[in-house]
Amino acid sequence: MGIDFGTTNSSVSLVRQGSVEEVAFRSRLGSSRSSRSLLYLERGRSTAGASGVRSWTGAEAVEHYLEADEDEIQRRLIQSLKSHLSARSLTGTEIFGRQYRFEELVARILRDLRAHASEAFGFDVTRAVVGRPVMFVGAGDEADNVFAEQRLLAAFKDAGFEDVSFAMEPVAAARAYRAANATEGVALIGDFGGGTTDFSLLRVHQGAAEVLASTGVGLAGDAFDARIVRRLISPALGSESSSTSFGKQLPTLPAWIFRRLEHWHTLSFLRTREVRDMLRVAETRASEPDKISALRTIVEEDLGYVLHQAVQSVKAQLSVSETATFSLETGSLQLHEDVQRSDFETWIAPELERMERSIDAVLDAAGLRAAEVDRVFLTGGTSLVPAVRKIFTDRFGEAEVNSGDVFTSVSQGLAWLGSDDSNR
Ligand SMILES: Nc1ncnc2c1ncn2[C@@H]1O[C@H](COP(=O)(O)OP(=O)(O)OP(=O)(O)O)[C@@H](O)[C@H]1O
Ligand SMILES: [Mg+2]
Repeated sequence: MGIDFGTTNSSVSLVRQGSVEEVAFRSRLGSSRSSRSLLYLERGRSTAGASGVRSWTGAEAVEHYLEADEDEIQRRLIQSLKSHLSARSLTGTEIFGRQYRFEELVARILRDLRAHASEAFGFDVTRAVVGRPVMFVGAGDEADNVFAEQRLLAAFKDAGFEDVSFAMEPVAAARAYRAANATEGVALIGDFGGGTTDFSLLRVHQGAAEVLASTGVGLAGDAFDARIVRRLISPALGSESSSTSFGKQLPTLPAWIFRRLEHWHTLSFLRTREVRDMLRVAETRASEPDKISALRTIVEEDLGYVLHQAVQSVKAQLSVSETATFSLETGSLQLHEDVQRSDFETWIAPELERMERSIDAVLDAAGLRAAEVDRVFLTGGTSLVPAVRKIFTDRFGEAEVNSGDVFTSVSQGLAWLGSDDSNR
């Protein structure tokens, strides 16, 4: 069994009798080969204590979150949990007056993945090969990676798994590539996800495969989203607006408010009395009160999830066309912003640069030059961004650039690695 607990999406695969099977996650929206790595908790406003808390994961989490009536229900939607595994200071969080351990929240998602897998495959799943990035988000050194991996292991144990082994995600992607491709030579595998970007160099020689080196960097699609918020959305909400105070032009709102907007899990922290008062006053003084009013609506109506869905959607549009329109329409808020792919590419240039340095590092570690790479294999949702693909066509012009199942090749590869082990 291979389990890819991703920052944004998770998937589960099994190799049985020499072929790979995947869990299909069914919801009202249909069937999907991956499940959103989301957790949603709610409690009726009239209930007291922790007893009335209900929770869902994946597509069901989104459904229940969007259906909940805020007048009657307290809600909390949690995403990108994997990005916090390396943060030693984050041991847990308080939800509806009860303290939850961080591992417990991760385990809640893993328990559902285990249940889906047990049902799909017809046996009680307790053993798995689990992926980890080469460099976790926020990890500064190897000790941080070890810490993050231990926390992930504790969460798997909490979720009822008994026998868990870890493999590097790009090594798993390389194994999936190899299952589909027996060609001799050197392949560079790149996995561009939501939180992390990882690389492996694989040499296939006389039927045997050897991983020469792996590297990674703790940024990917979520960091692109943050750039879109900063450059496209925040200006429409007043980040560049000024107000006159005692004859001086000053920013209407402090920059930290907009930094919180960039990561949707920190947006909900803006719903404090202090910030709401600040926004109300700012609206009366601002030279562009409409912008501050739109920001107020986002904060008051807790539109973080909806906002970031709209951001991901404009990003995906830019993967297939040169221009796109960001649209956010809810009851009282109408926000539309046009964007050019070329602008987006300028905004994400610092992230693309760091990804390229990680490619330099994997080549260096293997002692290879770009010209010695025969093939490139790309996977992960962020590999659909044209500027990401261009890195490879520019550098490895001679090599073939291929891609596989962007959302499931890591779990497939993890399952193959598990199967290799048990056949040894
Ligand atoms: N068509 C697209 N164009 C651009 N980006 C996309 C597209 N589809 C998905 N993405 C992005 O891909 C990312 C998710 O990819 P993926 O599911 O591979 O990540 P993950 O495995 O959950 O994360 P990680 O591997 O970092 O833990 C998100 O940032 C999402 O916005
Ligand atoms: Mg991934």
